[in-house]
Amino acid sequence: MKRVLVTGGCGFIGSNFIRLIHDERPDWQIINADVLTYAANPYNLSDLQDSDRYHFEQVDIADGAAVKTLFENHQPDWVFHFAAESHVDRSIHGPEAFIRTNVMGTFALLEAARHTWGDFQDKLFLHVSTDEVYGSLGDTGLFTEETSYDPSSPYSASKASSDHLVRAYHRTYGLPMKLTNCSNNYGPYQFPEKLLPVMILNAAEGKDLPVYGDGKNVRDWLQVTDHCRAIVAVAEQGRMGETYNVGGNCERSNLQVVEAICRGVAAYLKVDAETILNRIIFVKDRPGHDFRYAIDSSKLQGETDWAPSVQFEEGLQDTIAWYLENADWIEQVRSGAYRQWMELNYTERQEA
Ligand code: NAD
Ligand code: DAU
Repeated sequence: MKRVLVTGGCGFIGSNFIRLIHDERPDWQIINADVLTYAANPYNLSDLQDSDRYHFEQVDIADGAAVKTLFENHQPDWVFHFAAESHVDRSIHGPEAFIRTNVMGTFALLEAARHTWGDFQDKLFLHVSTDEVYGSLGDTGLFTEETSYDPSSPYSASKASSDHLVRAYHRTYGLPMKLTNCSNNYGPYQFPEKLLPVMILNAAEGKDLPVYGDGKNVRDWLQVTDHCRAIVAVAEQGRMGETYNVGGNCERSNLQVVEAICRGVAAYLKVDAETILNRIIFVKDRPGHDFRYAIDSSKLQGETDWAPSVQFEEGLQDTIAWYLENADWIEQVRSGAYRQWMELNYTERQEA
């Protein structure tokens, strides 16, 4: 059995990742370490509770002593590091939590790995990062693994810092690491503060659809299980010490995405799409809003057997269906703190 530590396994990508490896890697023993912030939902994985290959530990990765104990107790062979504060708009309102978790938390994990892993034989630290570290593209070009870092938000700056730390531990201590920088994910279990779930739920609930700025900003979209499969491919087939960009080759402007959601929700509910499309409003832009992200994932596709498999239009319709068929999950995550955040973020934008 390989002992696999997944951090942040109760979040959006982490829970999809744990489900995938639990189903497809029967010789992996999974330890999920998550402090359970607002973005986590342990019920995402409630059906794994009785599995003898799955174990949950409530741990704050920024607590160095707790992380050291975690490593000593579970002796992980491989670490998949997902835990992070992940929402750009929240990082603009309150950057401190981002520095604490994304920088200090990654540092605590690296220290625990360095001190408990002995000669590093058969060990792996896979750091899950973002394309936002590269900053913004103009109308043309793609991010490659050689693109210089140029982060715009406190979130992306904290992720950039964590990437540099992970690479520095490889160069300085020989820590066996691999790093992935992925574009925007969509799919089930994404916290409804991000573009797709906000728009799907607002469209279904007869609310306004608040597009930042002029809606021309471009993102590259990848279905979450495709991202998770890329991470497994890098772990199993990628070269040690290397970085791999992960993307869906699927650029869409935000307005295109929101209009597709309007049509998809209308089709699902069997109502007139025009009524929903007419509720699109343009609100105050995100400060430092990156214009365009686009990924060259040819290194990953050349060195592993991975390729994106889900077409955006098909994946979007499945995602719409998931949100509209999982009202219990939505209710669980819409706490008082959630409502406060939505009011803080959107009231101020509409006053502009
Ligand atoms: P998320 O916000 O949905 O989940 C983050 C998880 O981390 C939550 O379960 C939370 O409880 C946990 N966490 C936060 N602080 C913690 C702490 N101090 N100790 C332990 N656990 C903590 O995030 P996500 O969208 O699933 O992103 C996961 C990772 O993937 C992040 O590192 C993010 O930067 C990266 N990433 C995300 C995307 C995307 O589109 N969502 C794209 C590329 C990379
Ligand atoms: O690129 C990878 C990144 O993608 C990840 O590292 C982040 O963790 C993840 O949150 C995501 O960041 P974005 O800022 O791109 O995602 P978000 O869903 O917040 O916004 C997507 C785009 O939609 C962005 O250009 C801002 C815009 N937007 C967002 C919201 C929530 C709107 O126009 N209206 C909205 O209400």
